[in-house]
Amino acid sequence: MAYAMQFLLLLASAATIAPANSAPSWLPNFWIKMMGTRLDIPFVYEEATIAGIQEAFDGGRLTSVQLVKYYLDQINSVNPSLHAVQEVNPDALSDAARCDSQRATITGAASRRSPLHGIPILIKDNINTRDRLNTTSGSFALLGSVVRGDAAVIDRLRRAGAILLGKATMSEWDHFRALSPPQGWSPRGGQGKSPYPGTVNPCGTSSGSAIAVAANIVTVALGTDLDGAITCPSTTNSVVGIKPTVGVTSRSGVVPISNRLDTVGPMARTVADAVAVLDVIAGFDPRDSSATRAGEKYIPAGGFRRFLKADGLKGKRIGILSRRFDDFEEKSAEAAIFARFFDIMRNKGATVINDLEIRGVEQMSDPAASGEAAELLAEFKVSLEAYLADLISSPVRTLADIIAFNNHHKEEERTEEFGQIIFLESEKTKGVGPLEKSAINRMVRLSKEGMEMLMAEKGLDALVFPNNVIHHALAIGGFPLISVPAGYAESGAPFGITFAGAVGSDAKLIEIAYAFEQATRARKPPPPPPLS
Ligand SMILES: *[C@@H]1O[C@H](CO)[C@@H](O)[C@H](O)[C@H]1NC(C)=O
Repeated sequence: MAYAMQFLLLLASAATIAPANSAPSWLPNFWIKMMGTRLDIPFVYEEATIAGIQEAFDGGRLTSVQLVKYYLDQINSVNPSLHAVQEVNPDALSDAARCDSQRATITGAASRRSPLHGIPILIKDNINTRDRLNTTSGSFALLGSVVRGDAAVIDRLRRAGAILLGKATMSEWDHFRALSPPQGWSPRGGQGKSPYPGTVNPCGTSSGSAIAVAANIVTVALGTDLDGAITCPSTTNSVVGIKPTVGVTSRSGVVPISNRLDTVGPMARTVADAVAVLDVIAGFDPRDSSATRAGEKYIPAGGFRRFLKADGLKGKRIGILSRRFDDFEEKSAEAAIFARFFDIMRNKGATVINDLEIRGVEQMSDPAASGEAAELLAEFKVSLEAYLADLISSPVRTLADIIAFNNHHKEEERTEEFGQIIFLESEKTKGVGPLEKSAINRMVRLSKEGMEMLMAEKGLDALVFPNNVIHHALAIGGFPLISVPAGYAESGAPFGITFAGAVGSDAKLIEIAYAFEQATRARKPPPPPPLS
């Protein structure tokens, strides 16, 4: 979870533009393609898109091995300062070589290959991979644990031919151990750092995934989200993040906080790339059957990619949570950018409805008052211990074991400095009982009366707000969210814009976010990092 726990406990106790980058912009497309294939114009790795990479594969200008080597070089040079990658997959190069030979032997296969075939992807460290990579949620306590198999989403990625480049750093235990560790910090990964100047912390908890994509260390990445853990680091590091409706992607084989609210989603430099990943990872999983059976019906036949439409804003009704933009009011540069964005939405055929607010948003953002705090503490222990029990072998099997581990490894885990108050509070709980169930029901009711009624009353297709300012209020309903880069403050710090929709409206949100991105194209790669 992003940072809701901070006050929670305090109170409770780009489409294919890559080839164009490689040649002067006055060259017509046709000649760029001709030169690319005939004259061997070097492939431009920076800001490469999946479509651009696949085109270069097909044109014989690039191999997966070359691509992986480029990213490994990037990791060597910038990761010592950014701390985005925790482990590199020792099999990444041989997996890439296998993809290259598959591509060479299957003739006319371009249309039959998955768009992710031969594409390197970085995996958040709380997602199980049954290979030489460890899965530890950033903690030394899980180092050496052996997972039963790949997480369902990893299984799908491997079958599509994606190359697991490694594990991304994250906020340890999804920032659910204590209040004070900085976001993006973990004992195993160190302190993740945004590649952009002016950013104090990279936001969490899928911090390494966002940093790596932003800094061109990898093509795409996987994150997980409960209440902003994908969208916050995405907006902070100027990448696209999709938090799908809970149940669209399976959570089996993921270190959990809450089986009710956790979700897995893609992070990428463009909406199209994020959607390419989503199309592969989405779907029914017997090991997460009740959630994914519900989620399955939101996945369109032919995939979400069918909704990458340049005119996707046409006819949409978009509600602006105006008060949420007030913080930007004083910063006239940002305010002007958002005002221009709303004009663009109108010009592209959307109806923009101003001055909306979600009923009960303050209550929902106050988990102590709502009972959500106590509920999550109870749910965490149950969910985590079920995960630990399922490991083939593990140095820890219970939350109490992890607490003891932290007490015995004060130095690595910085236990004295940060403590483990959330763990200790969670350890006191006794399962999800009537009290917790009534808290859940109350939250669900608030969520229905808030977000859902507003959407219905105003006939909205999406709500829009800056960064991810109402992440907690939107977590409860399992709503889908998409964050898109919006611009940069004077300091250089990125800011983003987030679209939220009703449960199951993922496809519609993709239409809106893609059309918005095509019309604005706000993302810029970060400046090269200072040499460490
Ligand atoms: C996994 O952890 C073990 C134990 O620390 C280490 O030896 C191994 O190199 C790690 N795997 C990778 C791929 O880094």
